[in-house]
Amino acid sequence: MITSMRTHNNNELSLKDLNKSVTLCGWVSKKRNLGGLIFIDLRDRYGITQIMAKPNDKYYAQLENVKNEYVIQVTGKVIKRESINKNIATGEIEIELTDLNILSEAKQPPMIIADETDALEDFRMKYRYLDLRRKIMQDKLILRHKITKATRNYFDELDFVEIETPVFGKSTPEGARDYLVPSRVHPGKFYALPQSPQMYKQLLMISGLERYYQIVKCFRDEDLRADRQMEFTQIDVEMSFINEEDIYILIEGLLKKIMKDTLNINISTPLKRLKFDEAMNIYGSDKPDTRFDLLLHDISEIAKEMDFTVFKNIINSNGIIKAINVKNAGNKVSRKDIDKLTEAIKKFKAKGLAWLKYENENYSGSIAKFLTDNVKENLVKELDIEDNDLILIVADKKTVTNQSLSYLRNHFAKVLGLIPENEFNYLWVTDFPSFEFDEEEGRYVASHHPFTSPKEEFKDKLLTEPEKCYSMCYDLILNGYELASGSIRIHDQDLQDTMFKAIGISEEEISLKFGYFVDALKYGTPPHGGIALGLDRLAMILTNSSSIRDVIAFPKNANAIDPMSEAPSYVSESQLKDLKIKIEK
Ligand code: AMO
Ligand code: AMP
Repeated sequence: MITSMRTHNNNELSLKDLNKSVTLCGWVSKKRNLGGLIFIDLRDRYGITQIMAKPNDKYYAQLENVKNEYVIQVTGKVIKRESINKNIATGEIEIELTDLNILSEAKQPPMIIADETDALEDFRMKYRYLDLRRKIMQDKLILRHKITKATRNYFDELDFVEIETPVFGKSTPEGARDYLVPSRVHPGKFYALPQSPQMYKQLLMISGLERYYQIVKCFRDEDLRADRQMEFTQIDVEMSFINEEDIYILIEGLLKKIMKDTLNINISTPLKRLKFDEAMNIYGSDKPDTRFDLLLHDISEIAKEMDFTVFKNIINSNGIIKAINVKNAGNKVSRKDIDKLTEAIKKFKAKGLAWLKYENENYSGSIAKFLTDNVKENLVKELDIEDNDLILIVADKKTVTNQSLSYLRNHFAKVLGLIPENEFNYLWVTDFPSFEFDEEEGRYVASHHPFTSPKEEFKDKLLTEPEKCYSMCYDLILNGYELASGSIRIHDQDLQDTMFKAIGISEEEISLKFGYFVDALKYGTPPHGGIALGLDRLAMILTNSSSIRDVIAFPKNANAIDPMSEAPSYVSESQLKDLKIKIEK
């Protein structure tokens, strides 16, 4: 962008500009003194241009005093460079200095401003404004911007209206804890920051807007991880008079455009789909990384025949025995490694990890002595076992078995390098169970949220056989991350009442929590549904970042602290007094 202070950006000049007088602005990225000549790498958002001054130049002395990260304005003549730098766009030319204006001096920066840095992440976050001077970071924010731009253009063309919904609201029923904001005007009362605009977007459908989207901040008080922030952004969508297929087509079109506009990648649609039960069967996870296979196999039937008490007990108690075949890993994995993995899967409550190695038609391993000829034959058939394969087996309750083997699957894909680079593997996971049994509360809770519609054939089974009901609910997975989630909503009041009954919410609780919403449903509700994509997660994956924090300008660390501003902070006594809040010591 050319402004009145400069004639060119720092990536623009080339041999065709020779002898022009130009003015450039930027930060001093590097300064060298070679045989009396001073060379400066001048950096702006666009690139780097080399500035050169000779000892008898008018501004030489002043340039000698310039340090890294000073902001300067230089004027000079474009000349051919003696030694060409092929790494930068302007590598064939340099600017012979004729005028210098020091716009701002700079303290010695506490970290190196370069793509490669050894600064720890918290330190980078403390000096985020310097961290964001690095091209690698700016590129991530720019790609994120391209995603939102593509999104806005896409939805605009399809007649969607971007509508803002309140940040100060009443708690919406999502899975996490709310962030609360005390009201000064109504002491003792609190606003909740939205975990998502779920109810508002449904109300907009009741209002007849038909097509809504919003790029919106959401707030959830949950443990932070590499793919989770307390405040994050959703691309939030809701549509009327539609079914699931319409949502798939809509979102696939959006992703096609985003992938093209940001990375120039053509993805082919329709995207792959798997039902929840199938995904759990073969991947042990509802957000499988589909860039590699290493599938789970149910070997309960085969293992039944083994005279191994542990397996027999699991089968008798309705558990499941599953295995993965880690191809050609027999000689790469030691007993010690297996002990470590056995320890690691204890976090999923797994009680053991059985293993077999196959070599020269012989099995070794912790359960080799229980293998009969028939079992051996069936295992080879089921698992396609060849020389040097490593078979890992977990026998447990379904969830424990699945979680453990899904973990091991991801683990081995990483350590054995099975994950292809630069691949973007999308997968729809559909047909989720309507309910999950909450062991702590001893009751069924809605898997997605209580406004999610069950599939047609289960509408009359919600109260009688809740464990067998499935919903019109879908997640979109990208490379093993949950990128988006949504559902077709209930638009029928009676069905909504039944749903509330099924999850055991009392009339009182309904009217307290979502009274206004349930009321609204009674005034003519169109069939509708929607979805929300995690923008930060999408940007993280498309920029090949290891953390969501890298694509957020000013993120919080894993302890929910901003090391730069030091938020959260204590507030003054008088602020607390205004809010009529006392802090317990
Ligand atoms: P859900 O809770 O699944 O659905 O959220 C949708 C998507 O938002 C992203 N996401 C997050 N990203 C970063 N940090 C977090 N803490 C975080 N939590 C969620 C994920 C997720 O897939 N109202 C429903 C959507 C709907 O039904 O339309 C909802 O919010 O990528
Ligand atoms: P043990 O007979 O207890 O020595 O166990 C023999 C092997 O079975 C060991 O490798 C254990 O890790 C494994 N094992 C024990 N319980 C389970 C289980 N629930 N699932 C898979 N393997 C198990």
